[in-house]
Amino acid sequence: MKLRHFIRVWNLSKEETFKIINRALELKKNKKWERKFVGKILGLIFEKPSTRTRISFESAMIKWGGSAIYLSYKDLQLSRGEPIKDTARVLSRYVQAVVLRTYKQETIEEFAKYASIPVINGLSDRYHPCQALSDVMTVLEKGKDLFNSKIVWIGDGNNVAQSWVETAALLGFKFYLACPPGFEPDPELLKEAKKRYKTEITISNDPKEIIKDADVINTDVWVSMGQEGESEERQRVFKPFQINKELLKLAKPDAIVLHCLPAHRGEEITEEVLEGSKSVVWNQAENKMWLHMALLEFLLESVKIF
Ligand code: CP
Ligand code: NVA
Repeated sequence: MKLRHFIRVWNLSKEETFKIINRALELKKNKKWERKFVGKILGLIFEKPSTRTRISFESAMIKWGGSAIYLSYKDLQLSRGEPIKDTARVLSRYVQAVVLRTYKQETIEEFAKYASIPVINGLSDRYHPCQALSDVMTVLEKGKDLFNSKIVWIGDGNNVAQSWVETAALLGFKFYLACPPGFEPDPELLKEAKKRYKTEITISNDPKEIIKDADVINTDVWVSMGQEGESEERQRVFKPFQINKELLKLAKPDAIVLHCLPAHRGEEITEEVLEGSKSVVWNQAENKMWLHMALLEFLLESVKIF
């Protein structure tokens, strides 16, 4: 059996992605599972804070009967310069899978290169693949058809947006983004998405044009973790991209609004919209746990490493 990692969405095939999302929906609906990972341990190494990703992964592993160990970067020898490649080989002897949240995507790639257990990206500067999959799960749960809906991203072309681009490309649905000039997703990624999957990805600098008749509206913070130094400029540039009542009037009346959270009320989204009837953010946050259960099952069973 081949060792599988999930460090970007494109590590999965289209069929595997739908299998994981459908399994997550089934777990959530039926609330039935065996405690089949008793004695198995999930390690979590986080360089940045987390509420949802950390706790939903820990809960997911515990629901399967397993355990989770949270390791803050500063408590590991990593913080004193022990190489990633050494940490990866040592951790592989202690735990059965690991979730990493790092500043740099390369750190996760390096870890995966030396690990002999599945490695999961719990967010990096480039991607947040688990988020995109649980977001798609939420879209489906809310009865939206991926292939006949206008699914849009308004705001920063950041890590979450880039994982959405990969998901749209892989699954084959159209995706529309409105980002300020210079804050679009990586052009190389967009080129690759087109080349590999012939995807229709529309990018504009005009949020009003993109949100028009949208069925699904997604946004995220203007200042991601690690970008605090750019805060002032970003607050200014992103202003017209706020999801507020006025902008939402242009979307379809039954549109849903997603935000991966944490939200900055009054910046990328207003309090009124976040707490309003179109917002699905609490279900979206819950779905991370179900998706992570399905993902852990998929990765642990596909490698049968224990
Ligand atoms: N959405 C998300 O990843 O949240 P956390 O930063 O709390 O994990
Ligand atoms: N784009 C945000 C997502 C937080 C879950 C960040 O990287 O900080």
